[in-house]
Amino acid sequence: MTRVLSIVGIVLLAAAAGSCRPYSADEGDGPDQPIAFYHKVHAGDNKIPCQYCHYTADKSLDAGIPSVQLCVGCHVPGSSAPTAQRAQAALAFPTAARDTGRGTKEWRGEATKLVDFWRSGQPVPWVRIHKIPDHAKFPHYMHINAGLKCQTCHGPVQDMKKVYQFSSLRMGWCIDCHRGETPLSAEEDASVRARSSYVRRIAALAQTSDVRGQKATRPRQRATTDCVACHY
Ligand code: HEC
Ligand code: HEC
Ligand code: HEC
Ligand code: HEC
Ligand code: HEC
Repeated sequence: MTRVLSIVGIVLLAAAAGSCRPYSADEGDGPDQPIAFYHKVHAGDNKIPCQYCHYTADKSLDAGIPSVQLCVGCHVPGSSAPTAQRAQAALAFPTAARDTGRGTKEWRGEATKLVDFWRSGQPVPWVRIHKIPDHAKFPHYMHINAGLKCQTCHGPVQDMKKVYQFSSLRMGWCIDCHRGETPLSAEEDASVRARSSYVRRIAALAQTSDVRGQKATRPRQRATTDCVACHY
């Protein structure tokens, strides 16, 4: 009897931890970083494009974290950066003239840290937030080139001060989208239909009445569900 009860208990626990309760995250989950770098200030208020800083997202597995040099390009007057933004950011560089007024003190502290990293040639030891296990791989470029937006997976980063993990990153989350079960915006869906190499390959096989095309899994499928595509 106790055994039956404990099995029921485990099943209920598993259900509560799994499908019944959607993954949730909030801003409190975001770790403190070595410099108080705010996405809201950069990608939100100042509308700096995500890929200005994460510039390998459409070329490699990793989206990439910008170097100190890229920060300095905007924050140290005279370096090369888009002019409008540089004009603004140059003001933010810690000068005696700016040592008054709202928020200036905090900014000076954070700016000093940035300049110290720059002067010593040390990279900023940013705390990594998103990480799937080593046995799985996630190619950013395949997703960006298919037309998916960063926010579909990472949430409203432009409104976040500290970045937090928005999606579960569990295997079921990956598979649901690959199977076409996760709803996307009309714009993203149209783009994926047109650009996914999987969708194009299946359509081509179906045209030649190749049995692999005929058997093609689900009508809304967007990407492969082969184990080897995602697992090493
Ligand atoms: C001015 C440069 C800059 C811009 C613009 C920028 N980021 Fe970032 N991003 C960073 C830096 C630096 C970090 C590492 C520190 C941190 O996590 O806040 C980071 C971290 C992240 C992370 C977490 C990485 C991890 O460790 O898992 C995500 C996700 C992210 N950015 C997405 C975005 C998105 C989406 C946009 C556009 C809406 C964007 N970023 C715009 C510089 C930038
Ligand atoms: C494309 C230009 C650009 C780049 C690149 C950039 N910043 Fe900024 N940053 C700005 C602008 C614009 C502001 C807002 C300045 C203001 O409001 O006075 C800002 C503000 C800040 C602030 C103060 C935020 C506040 O309001 O308290 C910090 C800290 C900061 N940036 C750090 C960084 C770091 C670290 C990097 C590199 C990962 C970086 N920035 C890269 C343009 C940039
Ligand atoms: C289809 C979902 C998806 C999309 C779209 C996506 N990401 Fe990611 N991102 C992930 C996953 C999953 C990870 C963890 C990858 C890992 O651990 O290897 C991640 C990790 C990151 C990281 C930290 C590690 C790294 O790759 O350097 C950054 C920064 C990041 N994403 C930024 C972005 C930006 C910017 C965009 C848009 C240009 C974007 N992501 C689009 C799912 C996504
Ligand atoms: C679209 C990508 C994707 C595909 C396809 C995929 N996986 Fe995974 N799998 C992942 C990711 C990401 C993780 C790590 C996150 C997690 O554990 O949920 C994972 C985790 C796992 C784990 C470890 C689970 C755990 O609890 O530690 C096993 C076992 C596994 N996958 C087997 C498979 C098999 C077998 C297939 C083929 C039928 C497959 N996967 C197909 C992405 C994928
Ligand atoms: C929001 C939808 C979405 C999510 C979430 C998503 N993917 Fe994808 N994935 C796609 C699309 C669309 C493609 C492009 C398919 C193509 O071009 O063939 C793709 C392609 C891939 C590819 C390349 C497949 C190939 O044929 O080479 C891999 C590997 C992959 N995804 C792994 C993952 C993993 C691992 C996760 C979860 C951590 C994940 N994806 C989450 C939509 C998604």
